[in-house]
Amino acid sequence: MTTSTEQEQPMLIDIEHIAKSYTMGEETVHAVKDISLKIRKNEYVAIMGPSGSGKSTLMNILGCLDTPTKGSYILNNNVVSEMDDNELAEIRNKEIGFVFQTFNLLPRYSTLKNVELPLVYSGMPAGERKERAENALRNVGLGDRMGHKPNELSGGQRQRVAIARALVNSPSIILADEPTGNLDTKTGDDVMRMFEELWLAGNTIIVVTHEPDIAAHARRVIRVRDGIIESDTINENPVSAIEKAHEAELSEAAV
Ligand SMILES: Nc1ncnc2c1ncn2[C@@H]1O[C@H](COP(=O)(O)OP(=O)(O)OP(=O)(O)O)[C@@H](O)[C@H]1O
Ligand SMILES: [Mg+2]
Repeated sequence: MTTSTEQEQPMLIDIEHIAKSYTMGEETVHAVKDISLKIRKNEYVAIMGPSGSGKSTLMNILGCLDTPTKGSYILNNNVVSEMDDNELAEIRNKEIGFVFQTFNLLPRYSTLKNVELPLVYSGMPAGERKERAENALRNVGLGDRMGHKPNELSGGQRQRVAIARALVNSPSIILADEPTGNLDTKTGDDVMRMFEELWLAGNTIIVVTHEPDIAAHARRVIRVRDGIIESDTINENPVSAIEKAHEAELSEAAV
């Protein structure tokens, strides 16, 4: 039913025959061999595959942290594969919000400063920056933790700070690499609920994970093996993290 509207969404990611290899001394590692992939606005995609299959390499290319050795990449109508490092940094800052397994927060900075960072890079005035960062933190339920440093927060709170930081400059795409890998099940469920809310609000979500339970939330599942796409399927019965949280609340209330 929703297929027709999904098809009308603009193309966000269009990569064709990309490859990425690393040369280390005598040896060349072909981390990504030949991948072509199209992702439209407001898709919810999981990228799965065994360790070493090229998931993070692919995600780094999608996120403009790295360029492919071969092939073309068009991101939101920009030809990324021909950009230099400065242009890449600029488009990355504008289009992509990252959430990493290890949160990647700056330890000396407060929660608020960490979330403000992407806006510093984009040159926004200080007052507006602060207001946007405060809003983003309130949206992830951390309005009362703005002055805390990362080591004064729980793992789940740190990941929520990372999500607020990913969202603060309204990127076109949220890219997450094993976002729940360092979290307990309950906190991981919380993060997945947040992703679902973002997806419902029109964001595009790409989650790299090796956990089937996490991938079950996505509407499309891409499996990578040995640097190529092994399968690319629609998930007909996605698990709703929002419904799950709601049911958990109801059953708690019933006790
Ligand atoms: N900077 C690098 N230099 C050399 N080889 C690399 C580099 N980054 C990745 N590789 C190699 O490329 C292959 C793919 O690595 P990648 O990190 O993309 O795997 P992955 O699917 O994300 O694995 P995991 O599930 O363990 O995170 C691996 O064999 C890895 O050793
Ligand atoms: Mg990886």
